[in-house]
Amino acid sequence: MARVAKGKGVVLRPHVKTHKCAEVWADICAAGNTCGITVSTLEEAEYFHAHGANDILYAVGLAPGKIARIAKLVAKGARVTGILDDLTVVRLLEAAANEHGLVLPLMIELDVDGHRAGVDPLSDELLDLAAAIAGAPSLHLAGVMTHAGGSYAATDGATLNSAAQNEASLSVKAAERIRAAGFECEIVSIGSTPTALAEADLTDVTEIRAGVYTFFDLVMAGIGVAQIDEIALSVLATVIGYSRSNGCLVTDAGWMALSRDRGTQSQPVDQGYGLVCDEDTRPISDLIVRGCNQEHGIVGPRDPEERIDFAQYPLGTRLRILPNHACATAAQHTSYAVTESRTVVDVWHRTTGW
Ligand SMILES: Cc1ncc(COP(=O)(O)O)c(C=O)c1O
Repeated sequence: MARVAKGKGVVLRPHVKTHKCAEVWADICAAGNTCGITVSTLEEAEYFHAHGANDILYAVGLAPGKIARIAKLVAKGARVTGILDDLTVVRLLEAAANEHGLVLPLMIELDVDGHRAGVDPLSDELLDLAAAIAGAPSLHLAGVMTHAGGSYAATDGATLNSAAQNEASLSVKAAERIRAAGFECEIVSIGSTPTALAEADLTDVTEIRAGVYTFFDLVMAGIGVAQIDEIALSVLATVIGYSRSNGCLVTDAGWMALSRDRGTQSQPVDQGYGLVCDEDTRPISDLIVRGCNQEHGIVGPRDPEERIDFAQYPLGTRLRILPNHACATAAQHTSYAVTESRTVVDVWHRTTGW
């Protein structure tokens, strides 16, 4: 992804929420062309700062009550940038930043596709927000940012490329409007894994953010930006019984191990709760996790009319399940078993919580 960013003339600000792991982040940094990190929780900010990250974008709307914690990080040398999309919060953030003696960098969040939060990049509200932040002594207008969440619905290249171009063009346009109104707007930050890997002209964009590319997952494969054999994260499950009434295997990996994410449900190929592989991560002809209880996974053929030949899967057989959504599946676990073939060569801790 760092290479992809370089090819497009931007730097990568990796989103660490996918892996939440210092060793993975070190690997990402080793590739070069990165600038700081993106986080989704202050816990991630604290953990990664303790592991050497100094330039941190906290990329969910900033509530004034969180400034005290940010101030502690700033006191330790971190630059923490927040995001906002609401005029009413500016006054509260200004008061909180002032109380803690900060000049807090903020980016205005843009809504480029009606998917989530953000202000309309072409609206008057954008300029009102820019003026309010620029006029607040304890705040600093650092730039604009957006996340084209609508891109996750793309299942063909043309739709994806157009989502990516829309994300870039509207963000650049917003920055130009802010500058034309007489305010600074240094950073233009965009990104998601699908749009980062799509074709788009990123002239005047300064950085891209991406996270789930770190492991990839079945949703990314369904969008077409990853191959199944590029998915780096799997859950090792064991066959612990048989569901004789419906011809399925029962494993010890239910939703507590896999998560309840059903992200492929709306895609052309529904992968249930995960795609089933052998222990060497070779997909097994059309077996998916059809159902999930808390501790039990129900593994069966994609076609519900078909039944599994139980003799092929003695009790104790180990299967690897590829996840729909890597961030959600990884979040069910406290560490990664790093493997080479079947051998665990290392165990990497991941942080958790808020
Ligand atoms: C603000 C923001 N930036 C970047 C990303 C990274 O997107 P992806 O995981 O598709 O790479 C996300 C993901 O939700 C996000 O919310």
